[in-house]
Amino acid sequence: MGWASAPRALSLAAGSGLRVAMSPPDNPGARPLLLRAINRESVERPPIWFMRQAGRCLPEYRELRAKAGGFLNLCMNPQTAAEVTLQPMRRFAYDAAIVFADILTLPMAMGQHLWFEAGEGPRFGPLPSLESLEARVESATGELACVGEAVRRVRAELEPSRALIGFAGGPWTAATYMLVGRGGEAARAEARAMALADLGRVGHLVDIIAEASIHYLAMQAEAGAQALQIFESWAEVLPEPEVFERLVIRPHRRIVEGLRARGVTAPVIGFPRGAQPALVERYAVTTGVQVVGLGTDAPRELGLRLQQRVAIQGALDPELLRAGGPALSARIDELLRQWSGGPYIFNLGHGVLLDTPLEHLAQAVEQVTSWRNADALTA
Ligand code: CP3
Repeated sequence: MGWASAPRALSLAAGSGLRVAMSPPDNPGARPLLLRAINRESVERPPIWFMRQAGRCLPEYRELRAKAGGFLNLCMNPQTAAEVTLQPMRRFAYDAAIVFADILTLPMAMGQHLWFEAGEGPRFGPLPSLESLEARVESATGELACVGEAVRRVRAELEPSRALIGFAGGPWTAATYMLVGRGGEAARAEARAMALADLGRVGHLVDIIAEASIHYLAMQAEAGAQALQIFESWAEVLPEPEVFERLVIRPHRRIVEGLRARGVTAPVIGFPRGAQPALVERYAVTTGVQVVGLGTDAPRELGLRLQQRVAIQGALDPELLRAGGPALSARIDELLRQWSGGPYIFNLGHGVLLDTPLEHLAQAVEQVTSWRNADALTA
């Protein structure tokens, strides 16, 4: 069977809102659509999930965070982390959940003091010596056993047809926060300047984070995560091919190899967000990842070329999702038409913005879950 399959679903009922999207997945006992798509099997439609689908866009999240006394408490308690992971799954027909955690808790577990400044974001204390970070490459995962426990709890509750994704930060992205102590554009420029000035030292830091990530991701897979995403959100600030090779491609390849050497078979979703098309292509052919995540409005041609080798994920503009309306529907339709002829996971190009109306999330999920790949062929 080709990519075409099931007959066209009922056309989209305008304004059907939350009701339809809250219905359970089509066939709750089936093998996850996400894994079938990654595996290049013939699927009826692309699977959908959104980065940051859990979190501040949901009122029930904000309520639980207030009760828990802050974001880190939510993350580090398996019961609340599992609950927050499941909140969006109850509300919308997403095909995958992503365990609720943060990319910065791994460096925290390696000994760098982390806190969240209200309304401002993460802050790190001084960078520990590379020797002391290196000494905690394995033990850091033990400090994060709560994440494995959250994975087990979610997997036990989630329908078998819906996949569970584990994740880690891209080593370069984690390093930008560790080196400068905070996020933001100026901090990224500073981290980039450090990388250009001393690629050897920054490369060493990135390699240490990569080694720790192998243990951390393997633990999540062993607990029940069925796919593993590497969030390299700040790949975009490394346009020089040699620097990108050293700080992104090489450590990602090492993570994939390290996971396979440990017998982890879960597919890896690499997300070198905002990297230049030529570098993304090189990334896709050299790292060994099964899926490449694309940043907002990545070119159609790039996606089509990548699909010959890997599955792709993305690349809806989160601002368009927040804006909603006919422009959103038109863009979703365009993305489905341009990429659903190959292995494609519908997602955003970056995370859900916190003030995104729930109706827009519902509209997007409904539109994608009503799509049938046969439509692309008859269009
Ligand atoms: O996608 C998901 O729903 C899973 C959970 C998840 C979080 N952070 C929860 C979170 C994931 C995958 C991340 C990844 C992450 N964290 C990245 C990479 C992806 C990206 O967005 O670029 C980065 C750079 C971080 C670091 C981080 N954590 C920042 C910069 C911030 C503050 C900015 C912000 O959005 O508030 C966080 C906090 C954070 N991580 C929140 C959530 C839900 C918000 C905490 C709150 O106020 O409740």
